[in-house]
Amino acid sequence: MEKRVAHNSLFISFEGIDGCGKSTQLLKAARFFRDNGFEVVETKEPGGTMIGKHLRSLLLEEGAKIQRSEVLMFMLDRSEHVRQVIMPALKQGKIVLCDRFIDSTLAYQHDYSFEILDALNEFATGGLKPDLTLYFDVPLEVALHRRRQRSETDKIESRSNFYMETVLARYLKASIRDPQRIKIIPAQQSIDQVTKAMEAQLRGLIASGL
Ligand code: TYD
Repeated sequence: MEKRVAHNSLFISFEGIDGCGKSTQLLKAARFFRDNGFEVVETKEPGGTMIGKHLRSLLLEEGAKIQRSEVLMFMLDRSEHVRQVIMPALKQGKIVLCDRFIDSTLAYQHDYSFEILDALNEFATGGLKPDLTLYFDVPLEVALHRRRQRSETDKIESRSNFYMETVLARYLKASIRDPQRIKIIPAQQSIDQVTKAMEAQLRGLIASGL
């Protein structure tokens, strides 16, 4: 595990394609930690800060017209998010649960190599990495079915199946590259089963002394 920012602090990111159920599981993880007496901050990317909220509407409603600029907007959002929200909370010994972080860029901005995106992520975060990343793994058809039921669409998310399959492949590549940090949670099962698998990971962390 990465070196902790402060004793007792913990930084966990939640990753997966749209419709994988990570946001639901983040809420459950927050409850789990609070029930165990920890202070929790829930946050998300893009849009975890004021500037991030503006970027979020630019990115999600307008759609980024130039891919390089899109990457850099995510980086600007991330850099401010780390500075204003994540680091202060970790320094206070809190548990930060973040819906999407560096691995979303590796997966979604897949026109660019890991090498380039690693360097940009490192620059934007000052080298901060999650202590644990939970990757909720679902086949594309399952995610699409769930999303259709919620009838959600916006520009960045109405992407082709080919694009989304590549996102999945990049998530897998990132997980294989960094198995210590990124834990794969099969997320095709019921919400309760996924929660159980996630809580097993979280209990392991608490047992290891947090
Ligand atoms: P959001 O509405 O937050 O979706 P979700 O609930 O699935 O997280 O939209 C975030 C979108 O932004 C999502 O399609 C992934 C994309 N994204 C990137 O392309 N790169 C990034 O670095 C991040 C953080 C998000």
